[in-house]
Amino acid sequence: MKLKPGFTILALETSCDETAAAVIRDGRQIVSNVVASQMHLHERYGGVVPELASREHITSMAPVLKEAIAPINGWDAIDAVACTYGPGLPGALLAGVNAAKALAWAQNKPLVAVNHLEAHIYANWLMPETLAAAGEVPTDAVLPPEPPFPLVCLIVSGGHTALVLLRDHGDYQLLGQTRDDAAGEAFDKAARIMGLGYPGGPQIQKIAVGVDPGDVKVPRAWLGESYDFSFSGVKTHILHEVQRAKVTLDISLAEAQPEVVRKLAAAFQESVVDVLVTKTVNAAREVDARCVLLAGGVAANAALRDTLIARSPVPVHSPPIWLCTDNAAMVGTAAYFRFAQGVQHDWSLGVKPNLKLVP
Ligand code: KG4
Ligand code: ZN
Repeated sequence: MKLKPGFTILALETSCDETAAAVIRDGRQIVSNVVASQMHLHERYGGVVPELASREHITSMAPVLKEAIAPINGWDAIDAVACTYGPGLPGALLAGVNAAKALAWAQNKPLVAVNHLEAHIYANWLMPETLAAAGEVPTDAVLPPEPPFPLVCLIVSGGHTALVLLRDHGDYQLLGQTRDDAAGEAFDKAARIMGLGYPGGPQIQKIAVGVDPGDVKVPRAWLGESYDFSFSGVKTHILHEVQRAKVTLDISLAEAQPEVVRKLAAAFQESVVDVLVTKTVNAAREVDARCVLLAGGVAANAALRDTLIARSPVPVHSPPIWLCTDNAAMVGTAAYFRFAQGVQHDWSLGVKPNLKLVP
């Protein structure tokens, strides 16, 4: 179904620790994109505390929503309401799904729910950094062409790591996935072991800038020809190295940070990036992909982006940095393409904490 020009979606995202609302026009234009991060709440625990997340979503939703719809002309300007219904934390998801259902019902708008991973993929369809940075985007702004199918997408988030083949919108084939920790989870756990803050990805990236790991080696789990991943061994290796450094240097980890930890962080990042990029590039060649996409929070990693661009045989697309981590703009885009294919939900919609991209 071809949606009318100017079709506008109000989208909500609450699957983890970001309360987000966005308004998306014609599937790719960001009218508004509001994200209230709960990072400060969870930081001291070194990870997301589900009960705290659910409560915070409930209190943040109204102000976030109000800010997101401020630029539009009332409810008449909204054609559909979208939300994420899984995977994610059950209580957190419930906050967004219930809000979306209530709004759609009260305003008599269609309801479209999407998979959170699908939303991360669709961040690649949103307008590019240059336009988004320009602030007010004219409605007739010319957006670059959409990523061409077939394509291979590497999804790397805090909860998931998967290599997916897309032959068309909504047509997903799982090529491989992690057998243990997700890539983002590995960054977070390794950072915690090294005494760095949460979330670990940005911290590791920061202290690894310009650092040559030299003789510090971190292993890679290739798992043969498979497109699956495994990061738990790398994490354990970091743990052993940190313990060894503490013993041999007989100093606290905080003191050891400049030399030992910086090299270890750089070696860790190099190892994770090498495995992610090698498998993605091999998959792209095998399926004759026309392009490669990066998606999910770890897609914000500069080493991953640069290495993939350097080694990929086909063009690489990645979302602007601020659209890599959780946001509702990507939910609105995914919902637009799914709604155009006839996907719609009714009031019986519930949350699916373990929802799979490919059943
Ligand atoms: O997609 P996301 O916001 O949430 C989930 O759906 O899981 O991803 C969050 C993850 C965290 O593990 C965080 O450490 C990681 O993305 N991350 C990064 C970077 N920025 C965020 N990992 C590596 N390098 C980064 N620059
Ligand atoms: Zn996410």
